[in-house]
Amino acid sequence: MRESVYTPGAGHVPPVLAGRDSLVEAWVVMLAEVASEGRVRAVDTVLSGPRGVGKTVALAVLSAEAKERGFEVIDLQAVAGYSGLIDSLAQRAEERVTAQSGPWTRARQALERVGGVNVSLAGVGAGVSLEPDRPRPRVDAGVLAAALAAVALEARQDNPAGGLLITLDEMHVAAPPDLALLSAALHQLNTAHPTAPVVFAGTALPSIRPVLDRAGVTHADRLFRFEEIPLTLSPADARYAIVEPARRKGVLWKPAAVDLVIAATRGYPAHVQLFAHEVWRVAPGPAAVTRDDAAAGLDVARATVEKQTLEPRWRQRSGRQREFLAALAVLGGTAPIARVAQRLGKTVRELSAVRRRLIDDGEIYSPEWGQVTLAMPAFSDYILAHYEATRAWSSKDLLSLDDMSG
Ligand SMILES: Nc1ncnc2c1ncn2[C@@H]1O[C@H](COP(=O)(O)OP(=O)(O)OP(=O)(O)O)[C@@H](O)[C@H]1O
Ligand SMILES: [Mg+2]
Repeated sequence: MRESVYTPGAGHVPPVLAGRDSLVEAWVVMLAEVASEGRVRAVDTVLSGPRGVGKTVALAVLSAEAKERGFEVIDLQAVAGYSGLIDSLAQRAEERVTAQSGPWTRARQALERVGGVNVSLAGVGAGVSLEPDRPRPRVDAGVLAAALAAVALEARQDNPAGGLLITLDEMHVAAPPDLALLSAALHQLNTAHPTAPVVFAGTALPSIRPVLDRAGVTHADRLFRFEEIPLTLSPADARYAIVEPARRKGVLWKPAAVDLVIAATRGYPAHVQLFAHEVWRVAPGPAAVTRDDAAAGLDVARATVEKQTLEPRWRQRSGRQREFLAALAVLGGTAPIARVAQRLGKTVRELSAVRRRLIDDGEIYSPEWGQVTLAMPAFSDYILAHYEATRAWSSKDLLSLDDMSG
């Protein structure tokens, strides 16, 4: 069928955001409280989880809910190797002033105090006033907090249910000084501007806590609420994500066809979209998706994932890393690190460098202390199918799958 109703690919908001109702409900209640009481009721939220679980799209929905309620929203995206949080914020502020957006224009004075930004010239084509290669002056967190508070208070003047929301996607790649500044500004808002309706939301990989630590952010747990987005949707939520967008177009999935997609994806959101999309494309329609359609579509989807994702990722891993991943796959894709070590005949300490590297590269993550999980469920089967070939070329003496299974 043409015109797929699914949204494969990073950051594409699906027609139904399955399994996030309670997250969104808590969020809108909090927004109302912030509009009413100010910063004292704000819960600065960080959606954390492995790649492909739906952090960006959930953040987009939180952002849309805020806009709908009259919040001014600035959506930012951290870029690896680039310290640009203030530039981006300043640029957005300028755009809003230029567009004669009421709250921003009225808060202009406070915005101008945020160093390096020449908002006063906005409207006559002013840009950020510093030369790009000149070092930016240190922006004071207190000044930044005052500017954000001013905009938020002005926004609430226009709409009693309004305020200001700042979002930041991919926080884990933000420059450490940016993270430190952001955290300090949020803290300043708490202490100096308790009535200003400002709130923050971001996304990050599970490794965000040590990143914040290294950036010198103290008490991250008191500053942010870390909402962990699980690796997989529950079977019921995954079914809903598959069936409902089709139903809205008058197409019904046979339950057995849905079963196949659930089994193949294990409810991992990125694959739910991709696999359902491929099934949709091979299905002749016009009104049903059958089990045979699903079987054919899944073959295409598996081949796509293998070629585009799994194979390149497997190729980048060293022999020792593959051995670690194989032991984890043998254990079902999630296990205490101590059991992985035991299967490999090593100590946990001996594995720590390999484990660290795999975590940094996003191949595995630690859902709780002492536990490791493959960050992409479909990797398990691939690893089990391809590991033995690895041993042939490796110069290291790697254990076989049989050795690990004992
Ligand atoms: N709750 C959901 N229901 C249905 N589909 C979803 C859901 N969450 C995410 N998806 C789909 O999963 C895919 C990945 O989503 P998204 O890009 O938001 O993940 P992410 O966690 O931000 O990944 P990354 O860490 O790589 O940025 C998209 O195709 C999106 O449409
Ligand atoms: Mg994302």
